[in-house]
Amino acid sequence: MERVFITRHLPSDLVEPLNRRLEVGVWEGDDPIPRGELLEAVATADGILCMITERVDDGLLDAAPRLRVVSQMAVGVDNIDVAACLSRGVLVGHTPGVLSETVADTAFALLAAVVRRIPEGRDLVLEGKWGPWSPFHMVGGDLHGTTLGVVGMGRIGRAVADRAPGFGMDIVYSSPSDKPDAPGRRLPLPQLLEEADHVVLCAALTEATAGMIGAPELETMKTSAFLINVARGPLVETDALVEALQTGQIGGAALDVTDPEPLPGGHPLLEFPNCLVVPHIGSASMRTRRAMARMAVENLDLGLRGEVMPAEYRHGR
Ligand code: DGY
Repeated sequence: MERVFITRHLPSDLVEPLNRRLEVGVWEGDDPIPRGELLEAVATADGILCMITERVDDGLLDAAPRLRVVSQMAVGVDNIDVAACLSRGVLVGHTPGVLSETVADTAFALLAAVVRRIPEGRDLVLEGKWGPWSPFHMVGGDLHGTTLGVVGMGRIGRAVADRAPGFGMDIVYSSPSDKPDAPGRRLPLPQLLEEADHVVLCAALTEATAGMIGAPELETMKTSAFLINVARGPLVETDALVEALQTGQIGGAALDVTDPEPLPGGHPLLEFPNCLVVPHIGSASMRTRRAMARMAVENLDLGLRGEVMPAEYRHGR
């Protein structure tokens, strides 16, 4: 019987298709499986269903000689050495599409929250500092009548852009390739950063995009502009962002993802009232996480049967 290993507990109804014909091992801990235990667990595995918390690299592939399929419950695969997998004939699956709308909802929630100063207002009320109404108390920015810069016009970028007109926003976007169907104007990144009133990062993390927002890019942004990151933390140089917030170079930030992640308590990014940090919950609606898990199970199941996976990841796609 073939054997698969799942690196986190998933709802049993979703895992059922695997239980029917495979021996299924599961890491039952709430925290990610420690590396040593992961390497042991994959030693006899034909397939693994993993999360963004696991590193799938040559070390893991060496420890898993029978491995034929790596199925990740996420769209981003920056934790997986895809080239190493493919060179050994190991298929890689991921979960594109099913999470785009939820992540775009989160992007707008973060954007609206920081531009309209919602977390600051909540803190003030909780601290018992809500005084009488006053004409210019806690005034912030607007979404309507502004231009949204979307960096990365893949599925998630598109879902973000599609929401912008509903908020009365114009769109500019940057993307390595032209997207004739996408709303808004395509601009080179420096021009986008100059023109946009707010910037949402939706690009995949690759060697080319790591650190794409550093000091020079932050200096290019408007001083009133907010930077929203719902993609991956390392797209932004953290020290440069801290400095930009310190000097008032940008209006503020809202981050679903950070570098490092998790962000340790007491980190400088947590000191700014105009910087909202949430713990990588972009796709965390129940419906979407279930859809992601279902897709990851299907990828694993069909990949091991030698059938077409619903979402196989190939380099350069
Ligand atoms: C993804 O799918 O890449 C997300 O970051 C995990 O929710």
